[in-house]
Amino acid sequence: MDETAARKRIQELGRQLRYHAYLYYVRDDPEISDADYDRMFRELMALEEAFPHWREPDSPTLRVGGEPLSAFREFRHSTPMLSLANAFSRGELLEFESRARRILKKAGPFRYALSPKIDGLAVELVYENGRLVAGATRGNGEVGEDVTSNLLTIKTIPTRLEPFGAAEPLPVPELLTVRGEVYMRLSDFEEMDEARRRRGEEPFANPRNAAAGSIRQLDPKVAASRPLRFFAHSAGEIRGGDYGAESSFWQAVEAFGFELPPGLARCTGMEEVLEKVASFEQARHGLDFEADGLVVKFDDWALQRALGAVSHHPRWAIAYKYPPNEEKTRVREIVLQVGRTGAVTPVAVLEPVQVGGVEVSRATLHNEEEVLRKDVRVGDVVYVRRAGEVIPEVVRVVLSERDGEPPPFKMPTTCPVCGAELERSEGEVVWRCSGAACPARLKAAIQHFASRKAMDIDGLGEKLVDQMVEKGMVRTPADLYGLDVAQVAGLERMAEKSASNLVEAIEASKTRPLHRLIFALGIFHVGEHTARVLARAFPSLPALAEADEEVLIALQDIGPVVADSITRFFRQTGNREIVARLAGAGVLAAMERPTTAEPGGRTEPGQRGAGLEGKTFVLTGVLEQLTRDRARELILERGGRVSGSVSRKTDYVIVGARPGSKAKKAATLGVGTLSEKEFLAMLGLETEPEGFPKLGERR
Ligand code: IVH
Repeated sequence: MDETAARKRIQELGRQLRYHAYLYYVRDDPEISDADYDRMFRELMALEEAFPHWREPDSPTLRVGGEPLSAFREFRHSTPMLSLANAFSRGELLEFESRARRILKKAGPFRYALSPKIDGLAVELVYENGRLVAGATRGNGEVGEDVTSNLLTIKTIPTRLEPFGAAEPLPVPELLTVRGEVYMRLSDFEEMDEARRRRGEEPFANPRNAAAGSIRQLDPKVAASRPLRFFAHSAGEIRGGDYGAESSFWQAVEAFGFELPPGLARCTGMEEVLEKVASFEQARHGLDFEADGLVVKFDDWALQRALGAVSHHPRWAIAYKYPPNEEKTRVREIVLQVGRTGAVTPVAVLEPVQVGGVEVSRATLHNEEEVLRKDVRVGDVVYVRRAGEVIPEVVRVVLSERDGEPPPFKMPTTCPVCGAELERSEGEVVWRCSGAACPARLKAAIQHFASRKAMDIDGLGEKLVDQMVEKGMVRTPADLYGLDVAQVAGLERMAEKSASNLVEAIEASKTRPLHRLIFALGIFHVGEHTARVLARAFPSLPALAEADEEVLIALQDIGPVVADSITRFFRQTGNREIVARLAGAGVLAAMERPTTAEPGGRTEPGQRGAGLEGKTFVLTGVLEQLTRDRARELILERGGRVSGSVSRKTDYVIVGARPGSKAKKAATLGVGTLSEKEFLAMLGLETEPEGFPKLGERR
């Protein structure tokens, strides 16, 4: 191919890829298959390699993340990125309007533009002649950090202003700065955090922290690997164009391919605004992102200019904030919790308080850095918050209520339980106990082994495990299988009957399928999903223990890090002994078994009906016969996947009663839906399931 043809093709592929990415990510309405998209992408990569001088600075191939930086450069905003004043009541909204009325010397009614207040990270994007040339964080409002290479990896940020979403040609201003929030969808956040936990990585505190943390990473590949998105909400500087009103600006940026938050509205007069404020209070809980309020702006830009700003915020906008799921209480103590992987987490022990209808007496402080950043000290009055299903956390200290000068938190250098040194790897914030025989790690490991998703040993709770470990009855999971009724009955708060029930439950766990046993061992980086992949590939635990790295890496979804972790686990003599003892005790999955050459893997106890290998399911609404957990388990047992959000990669959406937006999205994308009954029929379980727990029941 000659130079001219190469250049032309590179440009054409760029435009096509941008258009299809817009349809896929922003509109959720793709026109071509993933395979076709990938083919074009590969063609562009090959051409760029052959003709590097024609690579465009905003090429779609750069979305995967460029070279790491050594530091961010400062970025001065052309006009300051102001904050917003808050209103916490109807009265304060009415006051906002009357103040404006006095300044404008107009009676109104005024037109207002409303948008959900997104709990994300504020950034500004600069477009010169329609090209994205820079992007920066808000920083202190005047000066932020230039995070362009990270923002480039966000697929819902257009790199060019091309009016893909407009019916008619749309003039592109010479200069346009678009401001908005980088955020994560709640469903993406949960999925990402789950995957992090599976890999033994520290989960994030909440979607906002995850988004902010990802944007402030020097290696753009990190940002590229996180499910970041961007909502546009306001204009910075514009040259060579004027949209005249907030709502017209929103229309224009939407046409340019930006994503705008759902729930935008235009109202005339404060009465209408107040109605919207009331209806949005509930509606916001149905959104797939965190919205803690509603931003109310004067729609007319001439009025915005006339109202102007004070140093902190404009007079033409205000954020109505809903009461948060946040309460004040006192920190009694800061304790350290040692997890199964040895991670040492500071936890605040609190005076119990009701938060959103649930009693909270402990809240995570995440890690040393977080405690120091928030400067939480024993005796402090703090706000605690429950956000979604995330564990309660300490939000901030009320410094004005601090008594005297309690000593600042100090992370110990040794494990509070076994005394071994704490260690921390490069770039990690988590300290881990280095003691292999640490009782806290052992307790957590035994609890994990017995947990519902692992060997599911009914009745083996925290208190019992603590005693068993402290009394030296249990030193490895294999020891559980040697316990007799008399020994168990000797533990505190154990009657003969419950002891024999527990021994029976331990006995019953011997027939659990292989994937549960693999997961139960708590191998670093091996979560539920990986355990299932391994169980499909190997006939037994001893066979897995013999596998070498190449064989493991050849499996789908298993990379070098995971493979290394698995082989390392089984190289340790102690762990090999555990495998042998489990087999000796009659744990079926730990016994040598011949390979069965059935297509699609082995059939495990309780597995009937269709195999769901490679199929992705999404659940929505309330199921009647199954709990969500059980439905999930049934899918995973058969080799399927469960995702939190619907995309065109979804094979089926299982729709229960009162379904959420996922059902609607399935219809839009043409994804198949199943009722609960159809799903059960698909699995060959239609006549079952007297044994299934009803909704809300925990197994
Ligand atoms: S409009 C002059 N709209 O909240 C500021 N801001 O607390 C005009 N924010 O820094 C901003 N959602 O980054 C606007 N729908 C929304 C917003 C929003 C979140 C952020 C914004 C601002 C902060 C102020």
